[in-house]
Amino acid sequence: MYTEPWYVQLPEGFSTPEFDTKIWSPKKPLVIVEPRLFDASAPVYGYGEVGPTDNDLLAQHDGVPMGEHIIVHGRVTDSWGRPARNLLIEIWQANAAGKYVHDHDNTPKPHDPHFTGAGRTLTNADGEYRFRTIKPGAYPWWKDRESWRAQHIHFSLTGRGLAERYVTQMQFPGDPLLERDPVVSTIPDAKARARLVAQLDWDAAITGVAIGYRFDIVLGGFYATPAEH
Ligand SMILES: [Fe+2]
Repeated sequence: MYTEPWYVQLPEGFSTPEFDTKIWSPKKPLVIVEPRLFDASAPVYGYGEVGPTDNDLLAQHDGVPMGEHIIVHGRVTDSWGRPARNLLIEIWQANAAGKYVHDHDNTPKPHDPHFTGAGRTLTNADGEYRFRTIKPGAYPWWKDRESWRAQHIHFSLTGRGLAERYVTQMQFPGDPLLERDPVVSTIPDAKARARLVAQLDWDAAITGVAIGYRFDIVLGGFYATPAEH
């Protein structure tokens, strides 16, 4: 049975119900809400769980993926050129045929059972990172016959908090599709577009095995790598 709380029976003049803060206090126990993704203050997987081979997209299955094997590496800095240390970098990409593993990719292209197309790593003390993967294929944008995405790798960079997330895409030098790429061409500044293109890097190549590409990322400032919003 419901009974009036004791505090409305205070002596007259001591307090009035409308100004008595007790009457506005919760009458039921607090509800504990499960933490949600956007409440997290750090990457979901946690820094400690990034494995030493998570950056090797060629070693995630029993067999070797089809396609051109490449090394993608670079340095992440802030607008002052200071290294962005301990940043979680996640990449995702299509396979060599230009096919993603997710269900929304209904293009008539083959899946590669030996390639997922996702990897992650942490930048080191100098802001450097490195991945081993395959060169992704181009895929259609379905707007018209000449509308194709140039070959690219998606990058997500996460800082100490999830609010600090930088998403961008790396393109490949010399790709004839770059000029008409429906995403890259939305960036009006040609110099900014060029900052999305990696550089061929023979120093990072593995002789007879993999070609190297360098993709440096600048987080903000005048020379920032264009980011998706
Ligand atoms: Fe893509």
